[in-house]
Amino acid sequence: MPSACNVVVLISGSGSNLQALIDSTRASEQPARICAVISNRADAYGLERAQAAGIATRVLDHKAFEGRDAFDAALIEAIDAFAPQLVVLAGFMRILTPGFVRHYAGRLLNIHPSLLPKYKGLHTHQRALEAGDREHGCSVHFVTEELDGGPLVVQAVIPVQTDDSAASLAQRVHEQEHLIYPLAVRWFAEGRLHLGEHGAMLDGQPLPSTGHLFRT
Ligand code: GRF
Repeated sequence: MPSACNVVVLISGSGSNLQALIDSTRASEQPARICAVISNRADAYGLERAQAAGIATRVLDHKAFEGRDAFDAALIEAIDAFAPQLVVLAGFMRILTPGFVRHYAGRLLNIHPSLLPKYKGLHTHQRALEAGDREHGCSVHFVTEELDGGPLVVQAVIPVQTDDSAASLAQRVHEQEHLIYPLAVRWFAEGRLHLGEHGAMLDGQPLPSTGHLFRT
């Protein structure tokens, strides 16, 4: 069994992905252990989820800092106080500076509600509907300096139904997020997932450019 993998989770909101991670690290025999949850918003519901699970929380209000560099420097300090092996972005609604991203190179994961490289940024479900896409989904990726652009680890693909709205799609995509994020974190914690020179590697093999694909 590998030694424990300390994970810090960054949130801004509801934290349903955080909850899925909490549940998976509790339920399964795996080395990932969430040691802290940090939010840039004091009213993020995810903070209550963390407290209910006995996990340390910190709030770092970005509005209290003069600019991104100052905020990210304070964020690094807050995160590194927990000495994590992995930092997980779970609905953290801040654009991170290149310095922050470089500091956590190869140990920073994000989840995004689209089949990247499609629909980087916001309003992904509406954009998929407007484009007439037959498939939609979500992606876990290593974070690099390109927004929503780092090497993919895993994607879940769902069919778009003719009567789907942005809300119904969002709900089904969210269910998939709650499956693939714990899986990616588990792979990392078990020492199976790495960021190699040419992309994400699982068990020493390069992952395809889509990451590992799940279809429902
Ligand atoms: C998710 O849709 C995730 O893909 C995106 O932000 C949302 C966070 O949702 N990055 P929650 O706070 O985990 O419920």
